[in-house]
Amino acid sequence: MIKISPSILSADLLELEDEINSLDKSGADYIHIDIMDGHYVPNITFGPNIVRSCRKITSKILDVHLMIKPVEPYIREFIDAGSDIISFHPEADENPEGIIEIINKAGINAGIAIHPNKNVVDFEFLFKSIKQIIVMTVVPGFGGQKFMEDQVKKISDLVNIRKLNNFDFEISVDGGINNDTAKICIDNGVDILSIGSFLLSQDKNKYGNIINSLR
Ligand code: DX5
Ligand code: ZN
Repeated sequence: MIKISPSILSADLLELEDEINSLDKSGADYIHIDIMDGHYVPNITFGPNIVRSCRKITSKILDVHLMIKPVEPYIREFIDAGSDIISFHPEADENPEGIIEIINKAGINAGIAIHPNKNVVDFEFLFKSIKQIIVMTVVPGFGGQKFMEDQVKKISDLVNIRKLNNFDFEISVDGGINNDTAKICIDNGVDILSIGSFLLSQDKNKYGNIINSLR
C-alpha cells in the first residue's frame, strides 16, 4: 500500500500538537518535516527542536527532509532529536557518503532528495547505502507550488534501477501532490507520497478521507 507522509510545513505551529494528533488518527504513515536554512533554499523553517517536540507526541515515523547547506555539521543534532529517516540533498555537502554512514551507524534510515535540476544518475553511487529517495516535483523551498510533471520519469527510472541492482530504497515524491498528481506518481511506481498544502489546507476531520482517496 502507498504510504502517506504529510508535511507539517503548511501547519499552524500554534496548533502543531493538535495537527499531529489528527494526522496520527487519520492513518498517515509518516510525518514529513521540512527543514530549510535560508541558504540551500530561499526560505527558513525550523531546526532540530521541532523534531524533538514531534517525537514527544507521536510514534509515527519522522521523515526529516533537510534542505540545508552544508549538512554534516548538523546531522548529529537531527539524529539525537529523534528522526527515523533523514534525507538530504547530496550536492549540498562535500561528503554525502560520510553523512550516510553517520546516519546508518546511528541505526536510523538515510535518504537523499533529488532536486529538479539534478539527474538520477548523478547520485547512483549512493543508492546502495540508502533507504529512501525523494523525487522533488517542485523546486524546494515552499509549499503550494505546481507539480512538475517532467520530473515523473525519475520515479520509473528509479524503479528500474532498483530492480536491476536489487537495491532496497523506497521512492518518495515531494511537491504539488493532489488527487490527480498522486495518480500519475502511483502509476509510475512511487512508494510514498509527501503531501503538504493539499491535505493541510483542509478541515482536520477530512484528513482520513483525503488520505484514503489519495491511496
Ligand atoms: C517543498 C517541501 C515539500 C512541501 C510540499 O520544498 O519539501 O515537502 O511541504 O508541499 P506541497 O504539497 O504543498 O507542494
Ligand atoms: Zn519536503
